[in-house]
Formats: sequence, C-alpha cells, structure tokens
Amino acid sequence: MTGTAGRIERMISDITALVGDIPGPVRAAFQAMPRHLFIPPVALVGGADMTAGIDRHADPAAWMNAVYSDMPIVTQLADGAVPIRDTISDDGSLRLPPAADYTSSNSAPATVADLLVLLDPAPGHRVLEVGTGTGWTAALLSHLVGEHNVTSIEVDPEVGGQAAKNLGEAGVTPYLIVGDGADGCPDRALYDRVHVTCGIRQVPYAWVEQSRPGGIIVAPWCPNFGGGHAVRLVVTLDGIAHGRFPRFASYMMMRSQRPATTPGDRRSEHTTTVDPRTIAAAPAGANLAMAAITGLGCYSYREDDTYRVVVTDPPTGNWSVATWRPGRDEYTVRQAGDRPLWEEAVDAYFRWVSWGEPGRDRFGMTVTPEGQQVWLDTPERPVTRP
Ligand SMILES: C[S@@+](CC[C@H](N)C(=O)[O-])C[C@H]1O[C@@H](n2cnc3c(N)ncnc32)[C@H](O)[C@@H]1O
Repeated sequence: MTGTAGRIERMISDITALVGDIPGPVRAAFQAMPRHLFIPPVALVGGADMTAGIDRHADPAAWMNAVYSDMPIVTQLADGAVPIRDTISDDGSLRLPPAADYTSSNSAPATVADLLVLLDPAPGHRVLEVGTGTGWTAALLSHLVGEHNVTSIEVDPEVGGQAAKNLGEAGVTPYLIVGDGADGCPDRALYDRVHVTCGIRQVPYAWVEQSRPGGIIVAPWCPNFGGGHAVRLVVTLDGIAHGRFPRFASYMMMRSQRPATTPGDRRSEHTTTVDPRTIAAAPAGANLAMAAITGLGCYSYREDDTYRVVVTDPPTGNWSVATWRPGRDEYTVRQAGDRPLWEEAVDAYFRWVSWGEPGRDRFGMTVTPEGQQVWLDTPERPVTRP
C-alpha cells in the first residue's frame, strides 16, 4: 500500500505494537480521518524532550514522516503568545523561551487510540469532547458515533477556529463550542460518553450531571505527581460516578486547573535522611497515592551528578526541593512557603508502602456533587490525609 493509506497502515501497526490490538471501529476511524489534515504547516514535534520543528514547505518529507509517527505535535505555545515559527532555527533546532509552555497539540496517536478504546463509543452515542485542539479526535469520534452526535468544546478561540476549518476540510461538522469545558454543554446533554483530552486535577461535577446513567467519562487525571493516570468513570442512577485508573495518560492541563507558578517569598532550608531518589523513582501506584493523600505534585531532574526532586503545591506555587549528591548521608531540602511539602510527600510514600505497595489499578475514584474522592480497592477505603 502506498501514499496516505500506506502511511496510516504503518502508523496503526506501530501503535498496535505499543498499546495492543486496536478494535476495528477505531482502526476504521484512523483510516477515514487522515491525521495530516489536522496538522498545521509549522509545528513542534516530540515528547517531553521536544527537540525539532517541522515545516511543510521547507521539508515536506520530514513533515509527513513526523505526522505519521507516534509523536505528539505541539501546535500552540504559551496560549498563543509565542509564535511557533519564531522558535525554530534555520537548521530545525529549537530556541524555546523559558515561558513557552506547550498549550495545544495533536496528541500522540497511541495515546489517542488508548483513550478511545477506554471510551468505547458506539454508533448513535452522544459524545462530549473537552479540548477540541486540532479537531482530529472530534473527527475520529464523528466517524465512530456520527458527526451530529459529537459536541466538542475548546477554550481558545483561535485554536477552536482552526479546528473548525480542519474538520470542514476533512468533510465532517460536529457541533463546536468555544468556552470552558469544565461547564460541559448542558444544551446538548444527556451524553453517553464524555471524552476529556486535557489534563485535570478535579473532575467537574457538570460532566457527571450531563451524563446518562451508564454513561462513561474518560479523562487524563494529572495531579502532576510523576506521570498522569487515565481515569474511566461510570455514571450511576443516583448521579454519582465511580471508576478506576486503568493506565497511564498525560496531557496538557485544562486552563482553569493549571498549577500556580508564583511561590511566596519565605525560604528556609533543612535536611532529610530519605534519599530523594526514593520518591523520584516511585512507581505509578505510589505517585497516585501521594497525589491523592497530599494534593501535591512532584517532578525530578538531574544536573550532572546532582539529582533534584521538586515537590509542588499546585494552588500556591510553593515548593520543596530535595537534592541528592553522591557520598552524602543527609540531603538538603530547600523550601518556599511554610508547608513542609517534602515531609508530607515522604509520609504519604511510607503510608503507601504500609498498604503493601498497591499498583495504580487498585485505586479508584468517586465523584459526587460535593467533590471527588480517591479510594483503594473499594469506595469504603478512601485515601485521604491522615
Ligand atoms: C492536547 S490538546 C487536545 C487535542 C485534541 N483532542 C486533538 O484532537 O487535537 C488540549 C486542548 O485542550 C484545550 N483546553 C484547555 N483548557 C480547556 C478548557 N477549560 N476547556 C476546553 N478546552 C480546553 C487546550 O486549549 C488544547 O487545545
């Protein structure tokens, strides 16, 4: 097979190798809605260590190869404040300014397939998508359930406008709205499926309220403590949603749920005997537990022979940085703000150890009008601060 059809088949076999067999309807949607119709001429390609720009006019073959690879393609920086073209040097390398966060993208095809499989949409289902982005997922959903059944919300008017053009060129017209997806779209409810393609820390109750009993909500739960977790919730007759975290999923955060970035002025320093790498290398189940118990986030990075673990407090922007250096018995912890973030993360880690180190799939979540609650094994064992 040659041309676009051949490229799509090769992409499908690449992502099958990563996420397992892709059911026929999702495969057919990939074949019917070519990804290249949704990618702008100039974009950034890659994962966390994004290194390359792609320009369809300058190098059409490289652009097409990137589009039909399993790479996320970033289409907007800093909510549009930093033009992508300005960040690409003549040799294709990147000059990203420090504040150029990735704020819109066409997600990696394996991730898209993975979440669609969890969503399990069927013809005739009414679907709400949150985060239209380039429109590709809305196009795939349109193929899966029928375009008149798809409602998709995008917060950024420019991104939403481009998605409408892309979808028009692909020959589908789902119902598109510009607004805050956290509110859902009550006028088009009830939904059988809610598909969220931006990261969230809190599940808005509006999505539960606007779902039919038996409806399924799939979202990337991204408390930013290590990697994110796909959550799959089922809505019950009493207007409550329960579900589990079947696997990994990491997405750009929903605008209203992004962490604060300006810490308070107060700084202090102390030491810890816990090797910071214990927290940095914790598995997914531990990360999930630490996030649920503390409400904190965490990331780590290496600088030469130094390893830093940064625990963050999303609502305030405060942090604790624990630094590992070779040959030490104690490690420095620098802290912004009064809350002992490092110690709270460490305590939560050892609580998780005391539970027998449960994996991600033993945790679940319940969402009610009062908020969300993470639990271990059953809703009767809530995971909260001690
Ligand atoms: C990873 S992209 C979505 C990819 C998209 N599904 C596609 O197929 O291209 C995440 C999108 O969510 C949007 N977003 C962020 N916060 C939002 C919100 N509160 N409501 C709706 N969309 C939001 C971003 O602007 C961005 O376009």
